[in-house]
Amino acid sequence: MTPLLLPLAAVSLLLLLLLLLSATAATTITTLPSDVSALKSIKSAINPATIPSYSCLASWNFSSDPCSTPHLTHFLCALSCSGDRVTQLTFDRAGYSGTLSPLVSQLTQLTTIDLSDNKLSGPIPTSLFSLPNLQTLNLRSNSFSGTVPPVMPNLKSIETLDISHNLLSGNLPDASSSLTLTRLDLSFNRFTGPIPKLPTNLLELAIKSNSISGVLTKTAFAELTQLEVAELSDNSLAGTIPGWLFLLPAIQQFNLANNGFTGIEILKPANSNLVAVDAGFNKIVGDLSANFTAYPVLSSLSLRYNRLQGSIPEEFTGTKTALRRLFLDGNYLTGMPPKEFFSGKSDVSGSLGDNCLKSCPATSQMCVKSQKPSAICRQANGGKGKPKS
Ligand SMILES: *[C@@H]1O[C@H](CO)[C@@H](O)[C@H](O)[C@H]1NC(C)=O
Ligand SMILES: *[C@@H]1O[C@H](CO)[C@@H](O)[C@H](O)[C@H]1NC(C)=O
Repeated sequence: MTPLLLPLAAVSLLLLLLLLLSATAATTITTLPSDVSALKSIKSAINPATIPSYSCLASWNFSSDPCSTPHLTHFLCALSCSGDRVTQLTFDRAGYSGTLSPLVSQLTQLTTIDLSDNKLSGPIPTSLFSLPNLQTLNLRSNSFSGTVPPVMPNLKSIETLDISHNLLSGNLPDASSSLTLTRLDLSFNRFTGPIPKLPTNLLELAIKSNSISGVLTKTAFAELTQLEVAELSDNSLAGTIPGWLFLLPAIQQFNLANNGFTGIEILKPANSNLVAVDAGFNKIVGDLSANFTAYPVLSSLSLRYNRLQGSIPEEFTGTKTALRRLFLDGNYLTGMPPKEFFSGKSDVSGSLGDNCLKSCPATSQMCVKSQKPSAICRQANGGKGKPKS
């Protein structure tokens, strides 16, 4: 061997090694270290006693690389990756308790977080609401407490935000800067204060069962041209339910039951997809507006347990309307109910009981609940009394 050949052989061996290394590197993904440390922190914030052996989190074993495939024994579920980044964090419903590590926001490529139906507690890390690529945030049915940021300006891609069924308090967040949010569920928490300006592209809004107060304002609702379903029941909302609300162009269902509303205004629509309105269990006074019957597909209407007076307009009989379910029980309605209700030709069911109606035939299902005693009716109707039947 010439002295030159030895270094040459060494160089070619080195080249071969490098080639081999780059070949293996092309098939083995190494998760970005900050994603790995976030995942470690997320797992260690879960109470180990609540990680059953069959669960997804039990398979998170950091002796393997989280994003490397195939997953044979480790990292079997609860996360997905794209390349070297974690894109989805989707816990199984194993009953995990513990907290959510704030390091979750290091996972900046996350598009989905779904930790629903577990027992996680403590605050929701504020940084979660700034994840730039997040499309779905579902923390439903846990025990998260504390407040959420009053303003959420950084929700750039969010489509579904569901933090319902937790113990959250403080004001409802203002997410109105989001143009992508279509489904917002803040129900069954302890939120207080007024309804903030709502994101304009919402399809579904649910804030049921909180302690939301104040009146329904145009600032909050007027631009919601896509809103189909609004669930506002079981709060402390007050004032008159404004007529423009039912004229929102896409609205189909409005649940306003169990609040402190004192009036309801119903305007005639040019066109409407409104199918169901529930404004029962409020303190609504006034006459029952015949304008309800101008809504061409309105099939379910409840105004039960309010303080309505006056007679039931003939238009309600269902022959010219879509009405199928009509609950007017528990008011102070007077006069003769339209007899078409009882003719056998009517498709309307529901209740007219517990009013001040005259001749509501007990043979009809709608009249099974009896009318109020005349003394109560006389008092409620300014001494005019219950007309003799
Ligand atoms: C993680 O996996 C390694 C190798 O398969 C195993 O030796 C170790 O016990 C595992 N650790 C846990 C906490 O399961
Ligand atoms: C019925 O609707 C019309 C037109 O929208 C409105 O002017 C009127 O006040 C409404 N009447 C009742 C009783 O609600």
